[in-house]
Amino acid sequence: MRRVQVGIVGAGPAGLLLAHLLRQAGVDGVVLEAKSRQYLETSPHRIRAGVLEWGTKEIALKAGVGDRMLHEGLEHRGIYIALNGRLHRIDFATLVGQGIWVYGQQYLVRDMINHHLQAGGEILFEHEVVDLKQLEQNPILIYRGPGGEEGELLCEFVVGADGSHSRFREWIPGLRIYQKTYPFAWLGILAETPPAASELIYASHERGFALYSMRSPSLARNYLQVSPEENLETWPEERIWEELNLRLGGVAQLTPGPILEKSLTLMRSLVVEPMQHGRVFLVGDAAHVVPPTGAKGMNLAFCDVAVLYRALLAYYRDRDETLLASYTETARRHIWQAELFSYWMTKLLHTLPDPFEEQIRLANLRHLVESPHVQRFLAENYVGVYTSGRYAVAFPSPPG
Ligand code: DHB
Repeated sequence: MRRVQVGIVGAGPAGLLLAHLLRQAGVDGVVLEAKSRQYLETSPHRIRAGVLEWGTKEIALKAGVGDRMLHEGLEHRGIYIALNGRLHRIDFATLVGQGIWVYGQQYLVRDMINHHLQAGGEILFEHEVVDLKQLEQNPILIYRGPGGEEGELLCEFVVGADGSHSRFREWIPGLRIYQKTYPFAWLGILAETPPAASELIYASHERGFALYSMRSPSLARNYLQVSPEENLETWPEERIWEELNLRLGGVAQLTPGPILEKSLTLMRSLVVEPMQHGRVFLVGDAAHVVPPTGAKGMNLAFCDVAVLYRALLAYYRDRDETLLASYTETARRHIWQAELFSYWMTKLLHTLPDPFEEQIRLANLRHLVESPHVQRFLAENYVGVYTSGRYAVAFPSPPG
């Protein structure tokens, strides 16, 4: 049976970042990924948000995977809230002295795959993990390769980074799951269209929420609040553009262009605790899901990895297990903070079915656009409480 120090399941942002950091620290790891490389890098189903907290950008740079992100990404120093036909700017730079970095998650995944393979790292694509044994000591990953052949990988540690439908939730006993669903979804499009605004616009409209975002000066990413049961076939291109422009309320005008991708994103919040059992640890969406409003998913995954990486380094350098033992306790602080913020943004911006709650929502929104105090809450969370600043999770620089 093949042996490895750390077996990582999933080549998303969390798994790849951890694998790359460990490799630089001289720890031997293997990533097993059920999908093909091409699917991860190009499938429209893999498109995710494109907002990096400032500290997430810094972590990517320190990890040595951020060169392209730095050249092709865009710095934004605030966002806009559109309400009743007016634009209100939330000025992050003034409120909290920091901005954000706009760069698509799927692009960063592509960059991390490239860097990791070039550095000699190993990613076994089309290798689906089908079972996990011996969680307490010397865990074994049982996988099925591209030809259907089964194999086993004996690990010192196993890291579950297999995303929001993680198999680890069946394999780890005694997990507690906190979850919530929301009565709406997002219809998202990626489209070639000239820029309609210099920064993101979160628009609250009586017909529902709309978001104007971007991937590059010529590529826009837009979303519309719809029902979770929405049939995308009832949304031809003209209807999407018309609805987006209507909900933006005249504050920006989108020029219809070719729609390259169209998708429906369901919204839920979920936290799994503890995020560890014996020699098995969970990172990223495998341990927690946030609704997309506020774009916290990947930032949160990077925070988990920063905490786990530091703990694994302490183990491999000094055989010190203290940080590993307290992994969940440390990580749950940034996780619940991001859960709180994503929940707050979601409730604040989407039209709600209950008339009383809808009025409370509108009162909250008015308070936000009028009060620098509430704006500061938004700004601090949006640019990231835990990736930089006073509460930042400690991120040891990789050696070399
Ligand atoms: C994007 C997605 C989000 O959920 C968000 O809050 C902002 C931007 C995006 O896809 O660009």
